[in-house]
Amino acid sequence: MFGVGMDVFDIIRGRRSVRAFKPDPINEKDLEKILDAGRLAPSAGNCQPGEFVVVRDEAVKQKLVRAARGQSFVAEAPVVVVVCANVPRTSGRYGRRGAELYCIQDTAAAVQNILLTAYALGYGTCWVGAFDEGAAAKAIKTPPDVRPLAMIPIGMPAEKPSPTLRLPLSKIVHENRF
Ligand SMILES: Cc1cc2nc3c(=O)[nH]c(=O)nc-3n(C[C@H](O)[C@H](O)[C@H](O)COP(=O)(O)O)c2cc1C
Repeated sequence: MFGVGMDVFDIIRGRRSVRAFKPDPINEKDLEKILDAGRLAPSAGNCQPGEFVVVRDEAVKQKLVRAARGQSFVAEAPVVVVVCANVPRTSGRYGRRGAELYCIQDTAAAVQNILLTAYALGYGTCWVGAFDEGAAAKAIKTPPDVRPLAMIPIGMPAEKPSPTLRLPLSKIVHENRF
């Protein structure tokens, strides 16, 4: 069975951005596990600014596509999770650094947990960050201090993307000084 016997490195190595989805629904228990992985991500001072909006409504999905400059594959997936940062949760404690850096890093960690867990359960995902934040906020009706930072379409993959290139360690690892 898919997922069984994969260790964390297999999952990290095997995940690809999927941009074509089958319409099959996501198993609810699987979705809960995927969201729980996002919830369990580390966050600065454990302030937990992450909020997850689960979008299944077709009209809302289409608004997300428009916010994402027409990336129509987003609406192909049965579920789109919009990962948001509830900024005051972190800025209340860390001020500007909390608002401008930690919130972004915290939600990025949640996104990555979601991508990896979804892949381990056999689903395809894509981290979608190219969108008009105001338009996305309007689509999902976030309050003023809650920023939508990533859209994640999740569904059964309808493509098997080939591996993408990475820079070699020899180019990006530095000893003692840059
Ligand atoms: C912050 C961020 C924003 C991204 N935004 C988009 C996007 O808007 N649309 C898209 O198709 N892929 C987007 N991606 C996916 C990247 O293109 C992809 O991760 C990269 O090309 C490596 O491919 P892989 O995920 O298959 O390893 C984004 C990834 C990240 C981390």
